[in-house]
Amino acid sequence: MRNTITHPGADNLVYEIREIVGVANTIEKLGQPIIWENIGDPIAKGETIPAWIKEHVQNALKEDKTWAYSPTMGLLETREYIAHERNLEGGIQITANDILFFNGLGDAISKLYRSLHPTARVIGPNPAYPTHSSAESANADSPHFTYPLDPHNGWQPDFVVLERKLEENPHITGILIVNPDNPTGFVYPPETMKKFVALAKKYKLFIISDEIYSNLVYDGVEYQKLAAFIEDVPGIAMRGVSKEFPWPGGRCGWVEFYNRDKDEDFDKYCKSLIDAKMLEVCSTTLPQRLIPIIMQDERYYPYLKKRTAKYAAMADTAAAILGEIPELIVHKPQGAFYMTVVFKEDVLTNSQKMSISNSEVGKYIESLINPDFSLDKRFVYYLLAATGICVVPLHSGFNSTYHGFRFTLLQPDSEEFKRHIHTIKQSIRAYLDSDI
Ligand SMILES: Cc1ncc(COP(=O)(O)O)c(C=O)c1O
Repeated sequence: MRNTITHPGADNLVYEIREIVGVANTIEKLGQPIIWENIGDPIAKGETIPAWIKEHVQNALKEDKTWAYSPTMGLLETREYIAHERNLEGGIQITANDILFFNGLGDAISKLYRSLHPTARVIGPNPAYPTHSSAESANADSPHFTYPLDPHNGWQPDFVVLERKLEENPHITGILIVNPDNPTGFVYPPETMKKFVALAKKYKLFIISDEIYSNLVYDGVEYQKLAAFIEDVPGIAMRGVSKEFPWPGGRCGWVEFYNRDKDEDFDKYCKSLIDAKMLEVCSTTLPQRLIPIIMQDERYYPYLKKRTAKYAAMADTAAAILGEIPELIVHKPQGAFYMTVVFKEDVLTNSQKMSISNSEVGKYIESLINPDFSLDKRFVYYLLAATGICVVPLHSGFNSTYHGFRFTLLQPDSEEFKRHIHTIKQSIRAYLDSDI
């Protein structure tokens, strides 16, 4: 090329949750069946959509207007419904004009960071959901700033580190919260949310709160959205239908802007997001049509309650089994459908192994593993080759300083799930003991 055409930040776009799929596919071809525990797609894991939801979709498809473009910001009646529901919850009051639809939150996330001034940085949690951390880092062409969620403190954020980083790095202009969190399943208590808002006020920052799992909080866990705490701080909340309906293939999510009128620059930034969407015309119409219809159906919230009860039961099972390994830090998630366990410091080494019965698979995986691999990725590759269980390493997969792995709680059959967790437990034991 006469000029370099690749963006300087391109190498920062990494998504190990899907990258490991290529390795698993090869292993499968070599004869090792795969148990997919890496991707948060309930449908792919065998969850079925209730007939009443499908009927609503079929009915919506019978109307010609469902086939049309929607307004750039999204269907007005849907945005009015969302604003109304939000306002009933208390906290900040919004209107339909504070809501902008995207083709899934993945689309929203990439546009949010791409529209930021490259020197305005957003600090996010460690472990990080890679779509956020990669997009932020790519836009700035610099490593993503993170604050620790502390596994030694139930995944509570470490505010001492966060504030130190805010002081040391004046380019940080926004704080990202993922609540409930992916990958930890942590739910931010009200006191914690208030601390974020206080810091944002003190350092004149805006807050992004990814709330895609907000309707999947487990029974008995206290949860309120950013809207309840934001006061007059500029903020953006993100929601979607991928995990809730669940309809990940529907590609539908939205953002809610809070306090556009409180800061001129924030207002201009929000306008730039709307303008960018206008160039694209609009986002997908069909799921937008269905949001008020499905969410107002009296069967909707009982259906979600049933699903979250199942995830909570799976989390109990996994926490009980894996909690027996003294080298692990295990916390039961409080929402969403993932669980993350962390290896205590210094328990992983570069010489541990797992016995792999399929010799072709063994040869293949050992040809991939190299000394530059993070220690948890090394473990995850051995686990995949030896058992077929595909999980995601924390260090490389979630931009984390911790070593561990994330798996999903989506297996429809609880006995099968238990068997998988027992296999993981035995494999960890064998791996850790292999170099004693
Ligand atoms: C925290 C979080 N935000 C956003 C997304 C992206 O969701 P969507 O399917 O709406 O693009 C995911 C998907 O796993 C997620 O876990």
